[in-house]
Amino acid sequence: MASEREVRVRLRRAGQEHLLRFWAELAPGPRAALLAELAPLEPEALREHCRRAAAACALPPGPSPDLAARLRPLPPERVGSVGRSDPETRRCWEEEGFRQIALNKVAVLLLAGGQGTRLGVAYPKGMYRVGLPSGKTLYQLQAERIRRVEQLAGERRGTRCTVPWYIMTSEFTLGPTAEFFKEHDFFHLDPANVVMFEQRMLPAVTFDGKAILERKDKVAMAPDGNGGLYCALADHQILEDMERRGVEFVHVYCVDNILVRLADPAFIGFCVLRGADCGAKVVEKAYPEEPVGVVCQVDGVPQVVEYSEISPETARLRASDGGLLYNAGNICNHFFTRGFLQMVTRKCEPLLKPHVAVKKVPYVDEEGNLVKPLKPNGIKMEKFVFDVFQFAKNFVAFEVLREEEFSPLKNADPASRDSPCTARQALLAQHYRWALQAGARFLDTHGAWLPQPPSPPLHGDPPAICEISPLVSYSGEGLEVYLQGQQFQSPLILDEDQAKPCTEDEAGETSWPGLFPWCCCSRVQCLC
Ligand code: UTP
Repeated sequence: MASEREVRVRLRRAGQEHLLRFWAELAPGPRAALLAELAPLEPEALREHCRRAAAACALPPGPSPDLAARLRPLPPERVGSVGRSDPETRRCWEEEGFRQIALNKVAVLLLAGGQGTRLGVAYPKGMYRVGLPSGKTLYQLQAERIRRVEQLAGERRGTRCTVPWYIMTSEFTLGPTAEFFKEHDFFHLDPANVVMFEQRMLPAVTFDGKAILERKDKVAMAPDGNGGLYCALADHQILEDMERRGVEFVHVYCVDNILVRLADPAFIGFCVLRGADCGAKVVEKAYPEEPVGVVCQVDGVPQVVEYSEISPETARLRASDGGLLYNAGNICNHFFTRGFLQMVTRKCEPLLKPHVAVKKVPYVDEEGNLVKPLKPNGIKMEKFVFDVFQFAKNFVAFEVLREEEFSPLKNADPASRDSPCTARQALLAQHYRWALQAGARFLDTHGAWLPQPPSPPLHGDPPAICEISPLVSYSGEGLEVYLQGQQFQSPLILDEDQAKPCTEDEAGETSWPGLFPWCCCSRVQCLC
């Protein structure tokens, strides 16, 4: 381990010697911890990091003046659309996706290194329960979707197959995530097929370019953004692991989208049939000012342009069909070939420009007091996972229906959007629609019929509570056998063991606070 003297010399070269200003007061344990944290920081890289952070932050925010002239929507031939394609085309995409999954060529990769500051819980977001009747966490829903898609692909091709699950974590999320998976027996996945790895951390920096001490013996570090993926893949030889398993196609996604379709066969199949090396799922923007990045072209090169970079006039432009010209909202659901990821990690990663996030970063002041700032005081530099689109040789976008595939959890209740409440509603509304489509009918507590298609709800609480386990249905398929022609009273919980009649003790015993008791005998004509 480097000595204090060596570290001090290196910090001086980086202009960051203040990080040792409480050295004399520290006991041996904290001294060792601080040295261990500082020793890996290369002086030149640290100096450059701090300089870039301060310089980037000094630039005026807002739309880039010359962007409008350089911006174009993606050409239509690069875009596939679930909503605008015929059933036969969708079936072909799906079949191809299932074929690749059955050949063990598809992996999923979860970006789970974020700190989830807006949600504000002290544990990784994937462990969050949005309040579903089943009490499932985001991680559990995702694990069950993997199991189901493996099963569907296997059944179609008469084989057993595996979709390995790669999980990028950070210093904040690795320990609790690993522990949580162990506690839950990896949700019945084979632990050998769940690979967790850690992304790098970077110091948070003041507006004048000084790394921040969050304690006398600890630098304020933050994960290097979800675009830290590319360094992390190289650091932990993840692409080599994929190669050993024969994985050729990777579906990368964010932890917080409760509706995410892991290894979505339609998306995978579309990208593979188009020969794409890189692809992005998109949803139609809900309104011009919606704060989502737009997948488009700048100077002919595919990119995600942040909403803050686009002027309101450009955001409001209409296409000839009346829709928004820039309507491809990025939902952080990406397709990459392993070859593309290899090329990016070997050659292109250093070309990715970090983005500036201005945050409130707790720090120790000159006197050594801990300060929790009320206003943003620090800069975190993050790379973004989608910034590699520019390197694609054959980039495609795949437009999906928002109500079926996108409802992110970003904010704490009672926020009006992207909250636990909206995520729960989105999932339950989807399951209610699936149940109706499969031929179920629901009664309210007074025995009256509840709304039927063609107008099942897209937003807000559905008329009846219906939760369907991903182990029973991945995207609405196969439900007729349980639901066709049957009547149910809310709430209906359709789980893997639904077919089993419940015991008298179980019936009505479990309840979801504020709602009805539930069990499989919520069927009006109960089998029990
Ligand atoms: P967000 O940008 O929403 O960040 O991440 P966040 O950390 O979840 O939440 P806030 O902004 O602090 O409230 C989008 C996705 O990228 C992952 C997150 O875990 C989430 O899946 N991510 C983000 C990383 O994997 N690493 C990072 O350094 C940042």
